[in-house]
Amino acid sequence: MLKILTLETTCDETAAAVVTGSLEVLGSVVASQDALHEKFGGVVPEIASRAHLENLLPVIDETLRRAETTLADLDAIAVANMPGLAGSLLVGLVAAKTLALALQKPLIAVNHLQAHIYACKIAFKEEIFPCVGLIVSGGHTSLYRCNGAIDFTFLGGTIDDAAGEAFDKVAAMLGLPYPGGPSIQKAAATGNPKAYSFPRSLLHEERLAFSFSGLKTAVRYHLFGQGVKRSLESGVRSQESGDGREIADVAASFQEAAVDCLVGKSVQALQQTGLSTLCVGGGVAANARFREKMTAVAEDKGCRLFIAPLALCTDNAVMGAIAIERYRAGLFEPLDLDVSPGLVR
Ligand code: KG4
Ligand code: ZN
Repeated sequence: MLKILTLETTCDETAAAVVTGSLEVLGSVVASQDALHEKFGGVVPEIASRAHLENLLPVIDETLRRAETTLADLDAIAVANMPGLAGSLLVGLVAAKTLALALQKPLIAVNHLQAHIYACKIAFKEEIFPCVGLIVSGGHTSLYRCNGAIDFTFLGGTIDDAAGEAFDKVAAMLGLPYPGGPSIQKAAATGNPKAYSFPRSLLHEERLAFSFSGLKTAVRYHLFGQGVKRSLESGVRSQESGDGREIADVAASFQEAAVDCLVGKSVQALQQTGLSTLCVGGGVAANARFREKMTAVAEDKGCRLFIAPLALCTDNAVMGAIAIERYRAGLFEPLDLDVSPGLVR
């Protein structure tokens, strides 16, 4: 039985998994750093890489224990080396290279964005390619034509903020805890999504692009007015008064606008490519309103829709099972493999 150890340290989760050639997960561990970054309202790269250094070896040990696997049993070591935070990526890459060298096993490179889409194949065990892939996370909001597991063509993406970043920033404006996505979702549950009409930027243009900075700014103006001074004063006031209804309505109206953009552009991508399968991965794909609306629209349009299950939406190493595709294709890396932090198109 083919067994691969996969490592994931692209951003702020330290994760490892042992997966088999038949996409079975023998063991998986994700160590979240949310608590470390919470007080900054976002991921601090230097803190993230230091935490990976502390967490990675215990995470690997625990993964192997759960998988009842020894290092000697492994057939290859895989690691996400792109895209992500440079310092974070380096920690995973150096660990993977060291293991590969010491154990004399092949080293496999994982593209984190391709892995987010592959999470759908792992979860549903169905042929998903060719498909349109939507990756929507804290760092990315992009559409791809996915010809195969490791053959993606970039269709378009955000021209400013990633959707998850907008969730995180709006949550901070509302005084809600980090990470903002789950907090907004929770607050929105009791709010009216039609309370405020926030912008759906680029939605009615043909080009496959997203923009969330206007939406974010519209929420800021709505909450605090346009002046910086007023913004700070009323920000404090609104947090002190703890106006629950207003927070719920703003959260719901913001979430609805963001979801409309994601759903609308996915449909346009399907129409423009002529494909009839959509796969979605990344942290924001965990959003309940997005899942509900996307499911309804896909049904209406007669498309096959795969959205990664919650545990496989946010960063994890199970999705690194995409390494099996590269293993089978004989795509191994030399030990001077480097990280590629930038967005890969
Ligand atoms: O994929 P991920 O774990 O890490 C990156 O590669 O960025 O995504 C994290 C992002 C954060 O911005 C977080 O707020 C968002 O995913 N997120 C959500 C939800 N859960 C996580 N956004 C909206 N609704 C959610 N339920
Ligand atoms: Zn991710």
